[in-house]
Amino acid sequence: MRLIIPFLLLVYCLTQTSGITIEATPGTSDGVVQVVLNQTVSLRCDSEADKELVWLRNGAKIDLKEENKKGSSHVCVSPVIHEDNGATFTCYLHSNASDTASVTLNVTYHPLLSGSEEVKVEEGETLVLQCDTRANPVLLSISWELNGSMVDLLADGFTVTSDGVTSVLRASKVEKSVHEGTYKCTTNSPSYGHSSKLFHVTVTEKTKKFPLMPMIAGLVVVFLTTLLAIVSRWKKIAQCCK
Ligand SMILES: *[C@@H]1O[C@H](CO)[C@@H](O)[C@H](O)[C@H]1NC(C)=O
Ligand SMILES: *[C@@H]1O[C@H](CO)[C@@H](O)[C@H](O)[C@H]1NC(C)=O
Ligand SMILES: *[C@@H]1O[C@H](CO)[C@@H](O)[C@H](O)[C@H]1NC(C)=O
Ligand SMILES: *[C@@H]1O[C@H](CO)[C@@H](O)[C@H](O)[C@H]1NC(C)=O
Repeated sequence: MRLIIPFLLLVYCLTQTSGITIEATPGTSDGVVQVVLNQTVSLRCDSEADKELVWLRNGAKIDLKEENKKGSSHVCVSPVIHEDNGATFTCYLHSNASDTASVTLNVTYHPLLSGSEEVKVEEGETLVLQCDTRANPVLLSISWELNGSMVDLLADGFTVTSDGVTSVLRASKVEKSVHEGTYKCTTNSPSYGHSSKLFHVTVTEKTKKFPLMPMIAGLVVVFLTTLLAIVSRWKKIAQCCK
């Protein structure tokens, strides 16, 4: 109790001396506004005096209409996007920048994985599958399965890379017997649970690439030989007619 009472008094004093307050919808807790992706956040800044207010988003001034500056000022984020996560909105008096209040957005979102995709890959080529893994709070896990079993990274030439935005499964030199089948990527979020997407992968036969350049070279040789033959033959014929 001895510790708590001075702390409460301090908080009380701080809110009393500052003339600027921010009210947020949805509400704030400890200066953080909890909001789900695509929702709207509405912020209102009030000053005791009927004075001009300034709003900043991550330190950059927000353009306000003349009628939205004096005494009370509104800003609105609609809809909230991924990039708004962690953004700080600050309000202060134009005449006194030391009297300030701010709130930070905590935008929660998770990968919207669903449905299935048909993928065709030629034998010997590289298979690349991708899943969106952007999430707040961060995912507990990301997994890749082939025909219901975990993809064997060591045995079958697979690699998985994740950069927090996408998870990429790669298999180089694809073989029909090893790589064809149904792949599933699954993400597990602490707030939203599991989300999955399927990929039906078909490995097609290697198509015979038409050897165009050697063909052209061959044709040129045939043409030149014929031409030479005709020319030399023509000389003989011409000589004979002299
Ligand atoms: C958010 O909006 C975008 C674009 O309208 C949409 O594609 C996406 O599915 C929405 N996400 C959520 C979680 O509602
Ligand atoms: C600016 O605001 C702070 C905090 O409210 C206050 O202590 C200070 O006296 C003000 N300065 C002026 C010049 O009004
Ligand atoms: C943001 O919200 C998530 C989900 O409620 C929570 O786990 C996380 O700690 C919050 N982050 C911050 C910085 O408040
Ligand atoms: C996965 O299942 C499909 C359909 O049963 C089968 O054709 C394919 O060979 C299987 N793939 C692997 C790698 O076992």
